[in-house]
Amino acid sequence: MKLPTFPLFVAALAPLTDAFPAAMLEAAAHDPTLLKRAEKLLAGRQAGADAATALFEPVPIFDAKAQYVNVSKGSGHEYVAPGSSDLRGPCPGLNAFANHNFLPHNGYATVAQYIDATTKVVGMGPLLAVFLSALGGALDGDMVRNLNWSIGGKPSLAQGGATGVLGNGLIGSHNKYESDASPTRPDLYQSGNDYMTVTSQFQELIDYSPGGQVTLDSLTSFRSHRFDTQIANNPYFFNGPFSGVLVQPAAYTFIYRFMANHSAENPTGLLSYDVIQSWFGVQGSDGNYKAVQGTERIPENWYKRAIAYPYETDYFLADALNAIKLHPKFLDIGGNTGTTNSFTGVDISNLTGGVFNSQTLLESNNFGCFLYQVSAQGKPDILLGALSQLTGAIGSIIGKLGCPQLQAIDAKQLQKFPGYTKQAVYG
Ligand code: HEM
Ligand SMILES: *[C@@H]1O[C@H](CO)[C@@H](O)[C@H](O)[C@H]1NC(C)=O
Ligand SMILES: *[C@@H]1O[C@H](CO)[C@@H](O)[C@H](O)[C@H]1NC(C)=O
Ligand SMILES: *[C@@H]1O[C@H](CO)[C@@H](O)[C@H](O)[C@H]1NC(C)=O
Ligand SMILES: *[C@@H]1O[C@H](CO)[C@@H](O)[C@H](O)[C@H]1NC(C)=O
Repeated sequence: MKLPTFPLFVAALAPLTDAFPAAMLEAAAHDPTLLKRAEKLLAGRQAGADAATALFEPVPIFDAKAQYVNVSKGSGHEYVAPGSSDLRGPCPGLNAFANHNFLPHNGYATVAQYIDATTKVVGMGPLLAVFLSALGGALDGDMVRNLNWSIGGKPSLAQGGATGVLGNGLIGSHNKYESDASPTRPDLYQSGNDYMTVTSQFQELIDYSPGGQVTLDSLTSFRSHRFDTQIANNPYFFNGPFSGVLVQPAAYTFIYRFMANHSAENPTGLLSYDVIQSWFGVQGSDGNYKAVQGTERIPENWYKRAIAYPYETDYFLADALNAIKLHPKFLDIGGNTGTTNSFTGVDISNLTGGVFNSQTLLESNNFGCFLYQVSAQGKPDILLGALSQLTGAIGSIIGKLGCPQLQAIDAKQLQKFPGYTKQAVYG
């Protein structure tokens, strides 16, 4: 992340100096281990879900011209509803990008196009963008000719060619990319699909967010509720090492971090019901919503996050850790065993061949090390061995963290979960 130069940085944090000694602040402004040390300081307090905002966006910044995303008529990015052959799937952000021609309208794109759209339209950090985009190619894409992948299901022959159709797209990536306990999408083995927006879940999200605004705190409480609800209702609920521990938090934090509207008065973003409704393709009004998956839309007059504060891998990890502090169950890898309310966890040490355990996982950089290394363990659709773009992306994220080397996930540990064995992705 790019930090402002030192004097500005300290001035902005002045109200926090009782919590952060000045000498530490000075050092932190030039020190990449800021996050780790700040976390130690925060550890004693009950961190709110959005505690990372003050660390990663220390100085209020708003530049209307730079942050405005023009989707009005004539911009070339006006909304065009998807046609029947256009691919749309579980990700409202990518669906909206395709509807606005920030990605190919058919929903089948190159890794480079995903990187370009996510960094430019919503301010995703480049490391996170390269990682997520390359992973899409490795898990869900055309592994033979290139790494094109679909934001929906399998591309047609016309869209992807003979080798493109071997990739399953995001819809076909359950347990790899697509996870249970999503905000508005159903669990695959409970509902038969994993991507159609469920109106009642969207309504619940709003109900968890009183006062007209959706916040990171309200989303985190809603996530806790969704987690419990799925344990109580889906006999096959599965919280996977990657899909559950990395993708699931992203599905919640991305809502606020990428969809909120920014302004001089609210530089870190406000997410009103109207704005989230547009992004999720929901018609009607509170109490009377009707979700139409695939019609996700960037609102007119919308301002993305500050250019200086991209949502990068370290910022995301801090959000994910704050959520775990509030709700430690989010870290429980495991699932129901075929009946509702039968959630059983696996021992992290057994799962990782002793490289991590539940205690050390939250120490130092281990959480980041674990998540990004485990991502590469998901079975690619076609084994080519040449996952160089992905391993390169992972290398640049964890290169500086000094990670203990995770050799493999012990897939045996996951065999007792029917929600895993129906679509096993490790080993
Ligand atoms: C290359 C980048 C991206 C990839 C590979 C990706 C992939 C995914 C996948 C696989 C899911 C399903 C997860 C689940 O089952 O819960 C998902 C959900 C989601 N994504 Fe993305 N996504 C990307 C970028 C974005 C962006 C830029 C945004 C916001 C503008 C976004 C917002 C969301 C949200 C809010 C959900 C949860 C949907 C729900 O269940 O309500 N994503 N994404
Ligand atoms: C948005 O794009 C339209 C069409 O090109 C243009 O007329 C308008 O001035 C743009 N708005 C801003 C604020 O740049
Ligand atoms: C990959 O996707 C791009 C963008 O849609 C398209 O132009 C290209 O033809 C695709 N390549 C293959 C081999 O499918
Ligand atoms: C974003 O905030 C600005 C400033 O308050 C406001 O003028 C604009 O209408 C808002 N955009 C949306 C989509 O709510
Ligand atoms: C997990 O590891 C412990 C200690 O090595 C061992 O006693 C136990 O049997 C293992 N459990 C499983 C399910 O492999």
